[in-house]
Amino acid sequence: MLAKKIIFRIREVFRTPYVYDSGTSFDADHGIDTERINDRNIVRRVYRRLRGFSNYQALPVQYLSQIRKILLTSELKTLVDIGSGKGCVLFYLRDMFDYLIGVEYFQDLHELAIFNAKVLNTTNIEFVNIDASCYRLPSNPCVVFIFNPFGEKVMTDFLTANLDLVTKDYLFIYVNPVALHVFEEFGFRSCATDLQNLITLRKL
Ligand SMILES: C[S@@+](CC[C@H](N)C(=O)[O-])C[C@H]1O[C@@H](n2cnc3c(N)ncnc32)[C@H](O)[C@@H]1O
Repeated sequence: MLAKKIIFRIREVFRTPYVYDSGTSFDADHGIDTERINDRNIVRRVYRRLRGFSNYQALPVQYLSQIRKILLTSELKTLVDIGSGKGCVLFYLRDMFDYLIGVEYFQDLHELAIFNAKVLNTTNIEFVNIDASCYRLPSNPCVVFIFNPFGEKVMTDFLTANLDLVTKDYLFIYVNPVALHVFEEFGFRSCATDLQNLITLRKL
């Protein structure tokens, strides 16, 4: 266990930045920080563990082009990223939507996302600092993006809080779907995609 942790940390220090379609790192290109996992705060890590929240990790690059492909067939104009961290996904997809919302529980990540948005001069992204368990989705159908922010308990609360407004027109994109069974219990139908670990979901 300890050895695993040490290897993870060493990898993290020497990890080369993600290389995006531009041929270089998006962060390096734009002078922002979305890619690094820099959570050494012990209290927060214990708190996360207790509440079943996952650590921050930016979406691995191979998912982005696949998600763009899925979105090409959608007419939805709003995207919500549940557990948006430093804003990586929102910045990447901002040209495909009129309006995007990032929902993040931890204040420092939320503030970093706002800082990044200022550097990028974006005007169509709103950041909300709230626990997703009590977040209400927009009442107009939208794309809901989820990259493993939390497990079963919080996912159940999040879906319960939104079940009255979610229709088959909302499109959920779920990467690393550890709480997929919760969606199934709530009557969602999942659809596999070309990429392992990425599924789409719609309410039946
Ligand atoms: C794996 S990261 C994904 C970040 C981003 N969506 C991306 O794909 O690049 C999960 C994020 O969810 C956040 N998170 C965990 N539990 C949450 C909760 N209950 N409410 C809101 N955000 C949460 C974490 O702090 C973290 O930033």
